[in-house]
Amino acid sequence: MRNKGNKVVSSIWNCWFSYTLGIMAMLASSPPTLLFSASSSNLLPLSNSSTLRLSFSSSLHSSSLSISSTFLSHPSITSKRFSNHATFNINASAAEKKKVLIINTNSGGHAVIGFYFAKELLGAGHSVTILTVGDESSDKMKKPPFNRFSEIVSAGGSTVWGNPADVGSIVGGEAFDVVLDNNGKDLEAVRPVINWAKSSGAKQFLFISSAGIYKVTDEPPHVEGDAVKADAGHVGVEKYIEETFDSWAIFRPQYMLGSGNNKDCEEWFFDRIVRDRPVLIPGSGLQLTNIAHVRDLSSMLTLAVENPDAANHSIFNIVSDRAVTLNGIAKLCAQAAGRPVNIVHYDPKAIGIDAKKAFPFRNVHFYAEPRAAKSKLGWSSTTNLPEDLKERFEEYVKIGRDKKDIKFELDDKILEALKVPVTV
Ligand SMILES: *[C@@H]1O[C@H](CO)[C@@H](O)[C@H](O)[C@H]1NC(C)=O
Ligand SMILES: *[C@@H]1O[C@H](CO)[C@@H](O)[C@H](O)[C@H]1NC(C)=O
Ligand SMILES: *[C@@H]1O[C@H](CO)[C@@H](O)[C@H](O)[C@H]1NC(C)=O
Repeated sequence: MRNKGNKVVSSIWNCWFSYTLGIMAMLASSPPTLLFSASSSNLLPLSNSSTLRLSFSSSLHSSSLSISSTFLSHPSITSKRFSNHATFNINASAAEKKKVLIINTNSGGHAVIGFYFAKELLGAGHSVTILTVGDESSDKMKKPPFNRFSEIVSAGGSTVWGNPADVGSIVGGEAFDVVLDNNGKDLEAVRPVINWAKSSGAKQFLFISSAGIYKVTDEPPHVEGDAVKADAGHVGVEKYIEETFDSWAIFRPQYMLGSGNNKDCEEWFFDRIVRDRPVLIPGSGLQLTNIAHVRDLSSMLTLAVENPDAANHSIFNIVSDRAVTLNGIAKLCAQAAGRPVNIVHYDPKAIGIDAKKAFPFRNVHFYAEPRAAKSKLGWSSTTNLPEDLKERFEEYVKIGRDKKDIKFELDDKILEALKVPVTV
């Protein structure tokens, strides 16, 4: 932004000035709670000018007047952060359309990230090629999100398949501004992609790592900069990227939900709830975790593409901004389904069960917060589990999964060990 010249700065300043006056006028006529319960886009017809993007923290509720005056007294629009109370982003780089290559995994919970990201970038006018690991005719491509890749093609994107180590020949010597690796879990898998990206002149490298690399902490949440497990495969990749690329950003996700997910998340709970089966939770169920809607992951990645200087040399927890307990997610799924839930807790060790096989989440506290994305990118979370789960349940029923014949052998084994009668 700083280099964009006075013209952009002054027109943005003018926008800000009228916006701030508008706020002050509104303050005079309406209670602050009403004012700030509206989203910034409702407040701001300017959002279509595509030069300005606003995001307010909730603390504006109590301090709106002083913030307005902070803005008015600030000498120039050279900083992204005016105070602890408000941040904004200037979306001037949006005019710059990027060529983005996404290397996408062909399985697992992260597959859906590339799908949403590709569609969002295309919607914003960028060009996208998505290289999925493996073969287009493989069975894995019959599952979501891959069986919906025509949505990427009809939005103008290219879909190609192959071994990421051969990326250069797969894309036929084409060069990209931005490369995202949403596939590799260790250096062996990602090094060829990083080396090719660098040699082919890519300006920015993005990597989907994992919040699973944080060491267990006595002080939740996991925050960017906290200690990580040095021997984790993702850590080696992160280090190599830092050493190799000038402009990079690393993203550490946790769990995610959304249409097109490749891995069961909310579905695991719905499967049991609609069949009046107990929901078996290892431990107390009070463990904290983080489940984000994948649209929030995609929006954070898009901000990094459109604001490479703000994202530069940064690690981002790519997660929602609130925790949910394991009991909580079971209850919220039941609420979304409009049904009761019978939660049964068990001690996996005592009954000799591998909780990783019996339950979709870790059975310890696993909770990170997206602090870097908020402060550096002005990103905000839109995940709203009660509402998002309602939508997810509608789709669950629509695709007939509530009627599907599902075996619950491991659940039955646990219930038997607990001597809970299996009468379902
Ligand atoms: C504003 O932007 C939205 C989303 O990009 C678009 O659908 C809409 O048509 C735009 N409205 C105007 C008035 O340009
Ligand atoms: C930036 O502006 C473009 C419109 O030019 C819009 O499509 C895109 O979503 C914006 N990005 C962000 C992160 O607001
Ligand atoms: C990112 O940081 C590197 C090293 O400081 C610098 O050379 C590069 O220009 C930066 N890129 C962007 C897009 O800010």
